[in-house]
Formats: sequence, C-alpha cells, structure tokens
Amino acid sequence: MSSHVTTDLPVFDKDNPFHALITENRLLSKAGSQKETRHFVVNLIGSGLHYKAGDSLGVYPSNDPRDVAAVLQCLGAIGDEPVSPSMLKLHEPITLREALLTRLALNSPTSKILNTLLAKAAAPAESAKLEGLLAPDAKELLTRYLEHNEYTDILAEFPSAKLTPQEFVDHLRKLMPRLYSIASSPREYPNEIHLTVAVVRYEINQRPRFGVCTTFMADRTPVGSALVPVFVSHSHFGPPEDLSKDVIMIGPGTGIAPFRAFVQDRVAAGATGRNWLFFGDQQRANDFLYEEEWSEQLVRGGLTRLDTAWSRDQDAKVYVQDKMRESAAELWTWLQAGAHIYVCGDAKRMAKDVDAALHEIIAAQGGLTPEQATDYVKQMKKDKRYQRDVY
Ligand SMILES: Cc1cc2nc3c(=O)[nH]c(=O)nc-3n(C[C@H](O)[C@H](O)[C@H](O)COP(=O)(O)OP(=O)(O)OC[C@H]3O[C@@H](n4cnc5c(N)ncnc54)[C@H](O)[C@@H]3O)c2cc1C
Ligand SMILES: NC(=O)c1ccc[n+]([C@@H]2O[C@H](COP(=O)([O-])OP(=O)(O)OC[C@H]3O[C@@H](n4cnc5c(N)ncnc54)[C@H](OP(=O)(O)O)[C@@H]3O)[C@@H](O)[C@H]2O)c1
Repeated sequence: MSSHVTTDLPVFDKDNPFHALITENRLLSKAGSQKETRHFVVNLIGSGLHYKAGDSLGVYPSNDPRDVAAVLQCLGAIGDEPVSPSMLKLHEPITLREALLTRLALNSPTSKILNTLLAKAAAPAESAKLEGLLAPDAKELLTRYLEHNEYTDILAEFPSAKLTPQEFVDHLRKLMPRLYSIASSPREYPNEIHLTVAVVRYEINQRPRFGVCTTFMADRTPVGSALVPVFVSHSHFGPPEDLSKDVIMIGPGTGIAPFRAFVQDRVAAGATGRNWLFFGDQQRANDFLYEEEWSEQLVRGGLTRLDTAWSRDQDAKVYVQDKMRESAAELWTWLQAGAHIYVCGDAKRMAKDVDAALHEIIAAQGGLTPEQATDYVKQMKKDKRYQRDVY
C-alpha cells in the first residue's frame, strides 16, 4: 500500500464557491429600531475553508424570484429560452431564468436600454417619450427617470419595442458577490463564520426597494435547508501578531463585526494587550449590537474599555469621534505606548470624520503641528498600526 495519501478535496474560492448552510438568522436590533441588523451563522463543515480574524466572507446572492417573474412577464417569455448574455462571455447558452435569477443584476438600469428601445419602438408616442429622455439637454430628467424606474417599469412603459430575451439580457450587468466582515474568530468557531448584516430596505417614490444580497440572506434563505455560495476573502486587516500590543477598535453600526472577531481571537489566544472598543449606533435601547457579549467581556477582561455613542438618543448627534475626543488624553497615552488602531464601517462619512478626529487628537495631545500629526499618522500606517476596513 502506498504511504502517500492523496486527498482530492476541491478548493473553494471566488471562482468555485462553497455551497454553505446558514444555521442561524437572528435579529440583533430590537423591535423599536429603525434598522434591521441581523446575525448570521454560516456552516463551513466539509468546505476545507479557513479564515482569520479580519477576513471577509463573499456571498453570491440570487435575485428575488418575484422580480424574475415580473421581467419574464414583461418580455412575454417563459424562462426556458436559451440566452448568452454578452457580459458573461459563456461558451454555451444558459436559460433566461438562470441568467435572471443568479447571473445578472436586475437593478440600476442605464440609458443604454433606452437607446435600444428607441431604435425598436413602433409606437410614435413611445418614441417621442424616449427621445425626450435621451435629449442632450435632458440629463437631469434622465438621471431622475433611471433612479425612479426599474427595468420592469421601463419595459412596461415601452411595449411596442418588443425586446427579445437575448436583446434584454445584453443590457444587464453581472450579479456580483457581496463582501461581509467576519464577526467570529476561528479559534472559537473553526467550523462556522458569523456575520453582522444591516438589511437594506428603503423607499423611492413611496415604492419599497430592497438590497439584493441582504434580503436574499434575511428573507430567501431558509435556515438549515438552503445553500448559499460563499468564499473567504483574505485580508491584511487583522489584530496584531504580537499579543502584548494594545488595540483600539472603532466600529459603529455593522463596523462592529470584525471587532467581535478580534476580541474573541485575542481572548482565545491569551493576548495580554488591552482592548478598547468604540461603538455607536442610533439608539441605545434598540441598536446595542451584542450588548450582552460586551458586558460579559468587560467583566472577564476581554474588553478593557467600551465607549458608546448613541446618535439619536438626544437632539444633537453624538458619534464615535466625539467619544474619542472626550478621551483624547487617554487615547494619546495608548498610542504612545504602541497601541494599534482599527476603523471599520461606513467609508463615505464616518471613516473620514474619524480620521480627522484622530489627526486633531494627535496634534493637540502631542503638541504637534498639523503637518507633524499627519506624519505621525503616516508612520502608524507604515507600521501597520493604523488599519481600516471601510465600505
Ligand atoms: C470589505 C467589506 C466589508 C463589508 N462588511 C459588511 C458587514 O459586515 N455588514 C454589512 O451589513 N455590510 C457589509 N458590507 C456591505 C455589503 O457588502 C453590501 O454592500 C451591503 O450589504 C448591501 O448589499 P445588498 O446586495 O443588500 O444591497 P444592493 O442591492 O447592493 O443595494 C445597495 C444600494 O442600494 C442603494 N441604497 C441603499 N440604501 C438606500 C437608501 N436609503 N436610499 C437610496 N438608495 C439606497 C445604494 O445605491 C446602495 O449602494 C461590506 C462591504 C465591504 C466592501
Ligand atoms: N455606501 C453606502 O450606501 C452605505 C455605507 C454604509 C452603510 N450603509 C447602509 O446603512 C445601513 C446601516 O449601516 P450601518 O449599520 O453599518 O451604519 P449606519 O446606520 O449608517 O451608522 C451607524 C452609526 O453611525 C452614525 N454615523 C452617521 N454618520 C456618521 C459620521 N459621519 N461619523 C460617525 N458616525 C456616524 C449613525 O448615526 P445617524 O445615522 O443617526 O446619523 C449611526 O449612529 C445599511 O442599510 C447599510 O447598507 C450604506
């Protein structure tokens, strides 16, 4: 018998995702919250997948079958029609239903489809409307029209153009996977990945709109039965290898996710460095994500300090950077002692404002000019002591 054992385990990655069971889907925000933030547990058993604190999970969503049915109806199609969407560069055609359900994005129409409809419209009134939308001086009208209408609205408004299934799919973008910061540590959960997900539901013109992937996970993935295509996206973001280093973590909203992983990881690894967490969300009573776990970590010493900012519990907004400013002297002492600082969550506003607050604190506490404070921050980044995972 050969002494070599060859294992032909498939390697799961972005191009070959693992089909995982979701074993838990639990509301984290309370009933009175204006948000819907959920905790998901993804089962890794049989995948051979490994992850570390700081990595993200990629999830390939499916579109809502009701949206697919609406498109089929507009096209007068049944779904079995073979198509080769130009975006996908396929060797063989797939069915229209598969293309619409799992391969192409059904949201955010572009003006390209209006041009095609104009070329094919047989009814003069429809052509006139399309010409008006595509007129060189009607840019604002066009933008508003595309924001307010879905593909189904557009197809229904210009029925005389009669697009074939192939003509229609050639206008759609690829349905892309979404990334989620992993909220668990492999030291504590080697066979599971936990996620903290804010479900996207909003209205445009009094009509409900939904995020594709968050509602796929929240509404269309029955716990314990449906399989979700996933892959691990490895990241440079992660807690310091040197377990004696202190860490400062700033993660409002879903930005909390990787820091649950960091704290679990450092506790399990026996880290001796201190852990300071800044968390913020709308209301203390409704949006204190993982409150019990943080209380327990504070008692056990897994967290040294927790500062919270509740933006909507009073008239004036209070954000995580306000809490950082309140404790500027202490924060500076930690930084001078070599602490690593991490930021996760919203990139557009939060991460920029937190970065500005950090510069201000360093300048004021260190007695530095703005230029010297910038150099201090640059050096921290070079030393990988200031890391951000923002989206
Ligand atoms: C590295 C990384 C880590 C991430 N980690 C997390 C995480 O831990 N948790 C998490 O929840 N998300 C996380 N995200 C975001 C996540 O990847 C998705 O972008 C998010 O969940 C939305 O996906 P969706 O498919 O549900 O929404 P989509 O179908 O992609 O729709 C989102 C779009 O809807 C529009 N929109 C949303 N709200 C409104 C509104 N109120 N008014 C008008 N338009 C609106 C915006 O155009 C927005 O871009 C992360 C992203 C990255 C890149
Ligand atoms: N690019 C995007 O479209 C984008 C990015 C991130 C999140 N989101 C969406 O927002 C929803 C919830 O996301 P989330 O839970 O991660 O976070 P969030 O609800 O957007 O924000 C969490 C907390 O951060 C506060 N905040 C707002 N602006 C801030 C700033 N400039 N500095 C510091 N804190 C600030 C919020 O306060 P107030 O809200 O009371 O001001 C809230 O208390 C999801 O639907 C998500 O998809 C969208």
